[in-house]
Amino acid sequence: SARTCIGNNMQTLAQNLTSQGINASLTQLIHTLANTSKEISHAVRHGALAGVLGTTEQENVQGETQKKLDVITNDMLKDALDKDNTVRGLASEEEDFIVEVGAKGDYLVCFDPLDGSSNIDINSLVGTIFSILPAPEGELTEQSFLQAGRKQVAAGYVLYGPSTMLALTTGQGVQLFTLNPETNEYLLTTEAMSISKDTAEFAINMSNQRFWEAPMQTYIADLLLGTIGPREKAFNMRWIAAMVGDVHRVLSRGGIFTYPTDNKNPEKPYKLRLMYEANPMAFLVEQAGGKASTGYETIMDIEPSEIHQRVAVILGSANEVDTCLEYHDIDY
Ligand code: AHG
Ligand code: MN
Ligand code: MN
Ligand code: MN
Repeated sequence: SARTCIGNNMQTLAQNLTSQGINASLTQLIHTLANTSKEISHAVRHGALAGVLGTTEQENVQGETQKKLDVITNDMLKDALDKDNTVRGLASEEEDFIVEVGAKGDYLVCFDPLDGSSNIDINSLVGTIFSILPAPEGELTEQSFLQAGRKQVAAGYVLYGPSTMLALTTGQGVQLFTLNPETNEYLLTTEAMSISKDTAEFAINMSNQRFWEAPMQTYIADLLLGTIGPREKAFNMRWIAAMVGDVHRVLSRGGIFTYPTDNKNPEKPYKLRLMYEANPMAFLVEQAGGKASTGYETIMDIEPSEIHQRVAVILGSANEVDTCLEYHDIDY
């Protein structure tokens, strides 16, 4: 039956990491993250039955009211990483400051424990995003984390969708694993994710249109003109409101995703966070043949200045990102 066929001849995550030649400590750390994501998947799936939905009374350093699951998933990852002797420190969307763990391991982990929190209470897509950096020698400070995305040794996300999927890169392409609910094991279901160079699909929160800068205004206006505009092509739009979901679609069937600069709140012109949203996603996207930019700078080349720094993000199909960047080269 279909049931007994699941997983036949498919590589497990462990087998795949071995075949990639990943060292023992990085392998252990990836397993810690993967195993914790299985527990998160379990909690998310139980939803209202486990009483995990809804909001807390606390605000995080981002100025957002935390959902119960933001806090629960943050604690799960923090506890697991604290017990893993390959870790030196961690940083999270839900932690005001960097956290030093007990061990003096080789790695730093930056994570967004639950991406797309506004989707929790409507039973829609959420995920976890992580970035692994080498731990520098000496005392651990915020500065230890402020390394360009280029320095990442691994990055990935877990999507808690109709199936739970783990997308991973260690710099050797992007591998996609699906969690087998029978055995609770991640199995390799796509060996090398690849983003088509061209696309006819874009993702942006259109409700912010009046707040964008001129280059993005003009670029999107031209997409909306379709076949009668300068692009001479009809574009489709999608917006999941969880970066994991939108980036997963881009990795699966191409597209351009952007959360651009806006002046809705002049104190906060960008939404997405560099260290645990933009950088790990940029690493995955580049490894799948796509591009990731702020409009003016390649995401992974940015020298970070603070752990919760925010950036504009334009990523996806290489030719479409290039076209969008051409609009940023023009003087308006
Ligand atoms: P988080 O839930 O981790 O705070 O991240 C939310 C981010 C990102 O996932 C998504 O792309 C974007 O916010 C959605 O923004 P809108 O609410 O403007 O749609
Ligand atoms: Mn948040
Ligand atoms: Mn997020
Ligand atoms: Mn989050």
